[in-house]
Amino acid sequence: MRAVDLIHKKRDGEQLTFAEIDYLIKGYCQGEIPDYQMSAWSMAVFFRGMTKKETADLTMAMAHSGDTVDLGAIHGLTADKHSTGGVGDKTTLVVAPLVAAIGVPVAKMSGRGLGHTGGTIDKLEAIEGFRTELQRDDFFAQVNDIGLAVIGQSGNLTPADKKLYALRDVTATVESIPLIASSVMSKKIAAGADVIVLDVKAGSGAFMKSLEDAEHLARAMVDIGTEVGRRTAAVISDMDQPLGAAIGNALEVAEAIATLKGQGPKDLERLCLTLAAHMAVLAGKAGSIEEAELILREALRSGAALDKFRALVVAQGGDPSMVDQPDRLPAATAFVEVKAESSGWVTGIQAEQLGLAAMKLGAGRATKEAAIDYAVGMLLKKKVGDAVSLGETLAVLHTHEGYVGLDAIMSETAAAFTIDSAQPEAKPLLLSIVTA
Ligand code: URA
Repeated sequence: MRAVDLIHKKRDGEQLTFAEIDYLIKGYCQGEIPDYQMSAWSMAVFFRGMTKKETADLTMAMAHSGDTVDLGAIHGLTADKHSTGGVGDKTTLVVAPLVAAIGVPVAKMSGRGLGHTGGTIDKLEAIEGFRTELQRDDFFAQVNDIGLAVIGQSGNLTPADKKLYALRDVTATVESIPLIASSVMSKKIAAGADVIVLDVKAGSGAFMKSLEDAEHLARAMVDIGTEVGRRTAAVISDMDQPLGAAIGNALEVAEAIATLKGQGPKDLERLCLTLAAHMAVLAGKAGSIEEAELILREALRSGAALDKFRALVVAQGGDPSMVDQPDRLPAATAFVEVKAESSGWVTGIQAEQLGLAAMKLGAGRATKEAAIDYAVGMLLKKKVGDAVSLGETLAVLHTHEGYVGLDAIMSETAAAFTIDSAQPEAKPLLLSIVTA
């Protein structure tokens, strides 16, 4: 086989076999196929697309390019969720303990944030002492013991995806639905869960800006999961504004704890319940979404979900007093109000812009190596649909005395809010559900 012939074939719109796709992925991983050939092939895929079968074959070739996790040692069907990334998205911190509380085991590998979106692992590390690296056997034992564990991704999970994603990033081939779908699903499949629920965001703060693109991506991912024997569903939600009110690591942990107590923002609670309900149904814990929601609401009301979160913190070495008294989490020392420059209604909030502003305050990383300040970020005081008067507070920046560059961040934060004289039509948070 020769890479050039396979590039030629894809360029002309023909379908590749599993053996051909696997040859490209293995050859690329082993350094036998150079970047320029893989770039040409990715661009051919970008323009020609892939069939369902090709997309599933690419996913499996990448899933088996490194370590795979066999969750067979865990009792029961394990569930995982994946978010395509958003601003203020702390759903894993709520959903994982919530489904674990009703008996669905969660053995989760999560990522760190980069750019304007935060990562679950960074958020959990805002809790003093929380360890995000566990030995494989300890990881399994913890899930069997308390029903959940959340750790960072292992070093050698899907190396083909890491290499190909880095190449796509610099060759304008990221925005290809089969390439995104296989990239996301290869990681989920390698991580081993039986049930996969995808939280696909659509809107200004998301990777997929339109609902149509988000639906295509969700369909491609659900088809891959189904094709390879995983129970998969996707929930498409609006990311035209941040989720909840908190952006920044400790602030998001505190908001997740409030949600586990039934006192969180309604949009966050709604999305978490929906994701958790789909996980519960696919795992066989409920016969319908409605029934699952009833059981899950009871887990919130009774404190069982919060107890699971506390058990997770204790099991992974974190300070549980931060769960019961979230004001003990790392906190900012200076608070700056960003005020409205006109009166009217908030009709839009540029989530990406706020994510970038929080990152500049120190809540996220501009480069992979950058350190994070867990305490900083912002709390939104207004969301889309709220009335606002001139001079009223839109958001509070959580920062430190003497932070240089605050004026620019205040202006960027204010500019992220669109204020119009007409009240906007209410837009639903949940846009669509894609099932097998
Ligand atoms: N996230 C991924 O994991 N892969 C992509 O290709 C795009 C977003």
